[in-house]
Amino acid sequence: MINIAIDGPAGAGKSTVAKAAASALGYIYVDTGALYRAVGLFIKENGKNTKSEYEIKPLLNDLKISLKFVNLEQRVFLGERDVTSFIRTPEISMAASDVSAHPAVREFLFDLQRSIARKNNCIMDGRDIGTVVLPKAQVKIFLTASPEERAKRRYNELSEKGQNINYDDVLADVIRRDNQDSNRKIAPLRPAKDAIILDTTDNTLSQSIDLLLKIIKENI
Ligand code: DC
Repeated sequence: MINIAIDGPAGAGKSTVAKAAASALGYIYVDTGALYRAVGLFIKENGKNTKSEYEIKPLLNDLKISLKFVNLEQRVFLGERDVTSFIRTPEISMAASDVSAHPAVREFLFDLQRSIARKNNCIMDGRDIGTVVLPKAQVKIFLTASPEERAKRRYNELSEKGQNINYDDVLADVIRRDNQDSNRKIAPLRPAKDAIILDTTDNTLSQSIDLLLKIIKENI
């Protein structure tokens, strides 16, 4: 199977770019952030503190999480419940970042991610795909952009959806999540040694997609 790992900070455009590239190649696109988001939602719904591994650990025994692919589109399930549309709020973004710092949570999601990659040609995006989850991926890309550019993109995306937000809050959120994701002890966000760095600060979306496809085709 061909596995492409894409890592990078929040808001770098990984999901949009990776999804388009996967569809051009006929691979599935696996958004691993959705798994951490689903865990965050589950912990919050159970009234527990997302920062406390001690509170979370016993709940993992009851957590049934799965991904399904409908026309190459990923849906995430808690048990039988499709939670795909409930995990994109700022509150769940922070909860996901919190729970992702706990070794027990990362361990819990590890096999699920690997087994999908074993069975499918895929582009998998996250923070530790090239470094930890798929260290043997054929191509590893670290997709990034400046914090200001990432905040601008997120701000535009949320405003278009009708959310009433302010740019400075979005930028502060981007920086806070970058710090939390990069400085945690386990699987911190960083490029794999053999990753190709793709900085999209000055690129349009279609330029980024073309560049990504070019890199993939040259390296598989
Ligand atoms: O990509 P995203 O914004 O949906 O990810 C949500 C959070 O999950 C993010 O703050 C970091 C964490 N995450 C992670 O630790 N490892 C991954 N492979 C994917 C996401």
